[in-house]
Amino acid sequence: ETIEGMSDGGTLHPLQRIFIEKAALQCGVCTPGILVAAKALLEVNLDPSETEIRYWLAGNLCRCTGYDKIIRAVQLAAAEIRGA
Ligand code: FES
Repeated sequence: ETIEGMSDGGTLHPLQRIFIEKAALQCGVCTPGILVAAKALLEVNLDPSETEIRYWLAGNLCRCTGYDKIIRAVQLAAAEIRGA
């Protein structure tokens, strides 16, 4: 699956929407890879800890955001998906 397949037509995946809402991206170079990887994480673990998210995304380098907003956005998307 690519980033293009992540949305449902015109409806963004919760990860995509929350990344935008929480400014978890800046230049966007890293964003497709991080979003696809984060989606894969949430498919196997809908309540990942901060450490689990950081390890899961460790292969995706971002030179803009400093990662904190990315981690928070993944946590928020996970909470929304599981209805918390
Ligand atoms: Fe620029 Fe991640 S937003 S590299």
